Amino acid sequence: MKPEPYTFTYIDEFGDSNTAICSLNEYHSLMELLFDKYLQEWGDCKGRAWCGTCHIQILQGALSSKIEGDEKQTLSQLEDASSLSRLACQIPVNGDLHNLVFKIVTDNDFGLK
Ligand code: FES
Repeated sequence: MKPEPYTFTYIDEFGDSNTAICSLNEYHSLMELLFDKYLQEWGDCKGRAWCGTCHIQILQGALSSKIEGDEKQTLSQLEDASSLSRLACQIPVNGDLHNLVFKIVTDNDFGLK
């Protein structure tokens, strides 16, 4: 097990790099963590994997959780989704986040095809 707290890096909508820390299961998902601590303008569907506003792209590191069900469906409808894409609301807060680097992908609010 990786030692807590976990530290990760996210690139925000302005292209700036930010460091965030968290502990195991501190929040229900990565989306809720970032919404509460750092970002205010995403998570429109409250974590149901429907809206796509919590779209991120993983730049370094890997997540053990798989893309399934609603997440797969919603990602398939986002114009700028790639093989690096995930929905932050489907990502648990655990050691996978440690040293992860990801980018917040904006402009998805109305980007559903
Ligand atoms: S909060 Fe809506 S898809 Fe993640």
